[in-house]
Amino acid sequence: MSEKMDKLVKLGSDVVMNTYTRYPVALDHGDGAYMWDIDGKKYVDFVGGIAVNSLGCNNEKLVKKISEQAAKLIHCSNLYYTEPQIQLANMLVQNSDFDKVFFCNSGAEANEAALKLCRKYAKLKNKKGSDIITMIKSFHGRTYGAVTATGQDKYHKGLDPLLPGIKYAEYNNIESLKSVVDENTCAIMMEVIQGEGGIIPAEKEYLQAVRKLCDENDILLVFDEVQTGVGRSGELFAYQVYGVAPDIATLAKGLAGGVPIGAMLATDNAAQGFNPGDHASTFGGNSLATAAGTVVIDEIMNNGILENVKKQGAYLTQKLNELKNKYEIIKNVRGMGLMQGIQITVPVGEVVKKCIENGLLVVGAGSDVVRFVPPLIISEKEIDEAIEILDNVLKQF
Ligand SMILES: Cc1ncc(COP(=O)(O)O)c(C=O)c1O
Repeated sequence: MSEKMDKLVKLGSDVVMNTYTRYPVALDHGDGAYMWDIDGKKYVDFVGGIAVNSLGCNNEKLVKKISEQAAKLIHCSNLYYTEPQIQLANMLVQNSDFDKVFFCNSGAEANEAALKLCRKYAKLKNKKGSDIITMIKSFHGRTYGAVTATGQDKYHKGLDPLLPGIKYAEYNNIESLKSVVDENTCAIMMEVIQGEGGIIPAEKEYLQAVRKLCDENDILLVFDEVQTGVGRSGELFAYQVYGVAPDIATLAKGLAGGVPIGAMLATDNAAQGFNPGDHASTFGGNSLATAAGTVVIDEIMNNGILENVKKQGAYLTQKLNELKNKYEIIKNVRGMGLMQGIQITVPVGEVVKKCIENGLLVVGAGSDVVRFVPPLIISEKEIDEAIEILDNVLKQF
């Protein structure tokens, strides 16, 4: 490590709050699916800012749009209409089962909006209760509502009292869900592929049964597509792979290619829950973020990105399965499109650290999974490079 890197990392650990276990690397710039640190070392990027840099780094169209929009108008508040916000909302509505979009700035905020909308809708419909059921091993963010909805004790420690009225069921287990649903249930919220919980895809029959349960009991179904959305599954929304549409979905991460943004989408029916004054966000849907979002959605829908995700996703699965056949420490290969993981029997942190040292950025998920969420523009050659590094690392265990 250079003296410059060493100094920067030391200063960082002094002045930036201690909420992340960071690796001692300071990244400087990127291009496509590669990143470079301040010493000039190159990395193949299979983190993509944790499923955020959907078009990779330094995408020409995205950079041009952001620069032009910044010069024109960065922000003006939601007291007024703006073209980029309306365009992005319309693109999302046109390519989904939803009718209305609320913009915010992150995944947690989008889920917070969804939780509020569900309870408001229940009151509007004179439903008896306002309980919301979420899944064990889920992850929905760090604000109080979202962290309560997150079905993992480790994220709840020391935060009591949590938001009342949230109950948990086992994922991919319809009987577990049925045993928690009662007349007080107003909504069920889940990921289509559990991300932070360890890359666990929903089973199709399960999602179909959940939809049926919601329909029969007048319960709103919310899919948190913060990580699975925006093309990562090979479709714009992962629910489209399953053919099971929720009433509400949330997006964030990849939606503006790295510019902070969140969105909550709802059918006209569910959206009745909100009236002017019920929910708001100063920055939400600002011109800069939504202009960036229009480029991302346009590229995904009209420039071959979905096809690339399907093709390279299948290639990545094949290569990871080849490694599974080679190394007993790989127990499972899971995921969909460009959201995949290997479940391993050796410490994930050690594998991630060694990958970084060898020029591959990867991130853990759950307690025993190494996750692969590269930019959606990843090529076969870049996958080969990543697999070669991973192969060399796994050899050492
Ligand atoms: C499924 C899911 N929901 C919500 C969030 C929270 O998003 P944010 O960190 O933007 O608040 C995440 C982040 O990892 C996520 O994976």
